[in-house]
Amino acid sequence: MPQIEFINVSKEYEHGSVALDNVSFQIDPGEFVFVVGPSGAGKSTIVKLLIREEFPNSGQILVNDEDVSMIPQEHVHDYRRKIGVVFQDFKLLESRNIFENVAIALEVTDANDHEIKNVIPNVLNMVGLSSKMFMYPRQLSGGEKQRVSIARALAHEPDILVADEATGMIDPDSSDTVVEILEKVNSLGTTILMATHDQKIVDKLKKRVIRIETGKIVSDKKGGKYRG
Ligand SMILES: Nc1ncnc2c1ncn2[C@@H]1O[C@H](COP(=O)(O)OP(=O)(O)O)[C@@H](O)[C@H]1O
Ligand SMILES: [Mg+2]
Repeated sequence: MPQIEFINVSKEYEHGSVALDNVSFQIDPGEFVFVVGPSGAGKSTIVKLLIREEFPNSGQILVNDEDVSMIPQEHVHDYRRKIGVVFQDFKLLESRNIFENVAIALEVTDANDHEIKNVIPNVLNMVGLSSKMFMYPRQLSGGEKQRVSIARALAHEPDILVADEATGMIDPDSSDTVVEILEKVNSLGTTILMATHDQKIVDKLKKRVIRIETGKIVSDKKGGKYRG
């Protein structure tokens, strides 16, 4: 059974902008998939539909066989905990230290909570930032900030990790580190869907590449390159 399934999904935003036009694909548990294509192609729209930040105009999005559009509002929160999301601009709280930024994902209020004691050091170790746990975002490089945002996304042990242009604001060396972390996360069983226009990364990893242009899938290949 596929873990993620887009079935004839179309999305048109208000004011007539068609972002996705009859898009279908399936992703199996444990896959690492790039979604590539030029700016405006519809990559972020796929991410937004998947985390139910937007609804499709037609078609179905199934995650673990559940129709995402049909999830009752009061269960959306639980649904989103199963999907970790990493954004281009990190979305860290500047007034909180690294530990607290990750803790926010867990929404724990009790300082003695099991999650604080175990999960946060574990996920920060996973991204190689154990030593910076009590620093603030302004004291970190862009690449390190992105690693914090990955740690935050991993705090719930999500089945799926979605990254939207996760390397868009960081230098090439830091990008390589971020991608190595994503590969490690993937090797431990988490499905990765990474929207990117970073050709170097895509060509290096030789993973499945779904290419989208003006809202349509134009190719979908395993062991792929950014172009063809
Ligand atoms: N909230 C929105 N309202 C109107 N149009 C939008 C909105 N978000 C995205 N679009 C349009 O939808 C298309 C796809 O956008 P997007 O999914 O962000 O592409 P990408 O991430 O590949 O750059 C673009 O034409 C964009 O202008
Ligand atoms: Mg985008």
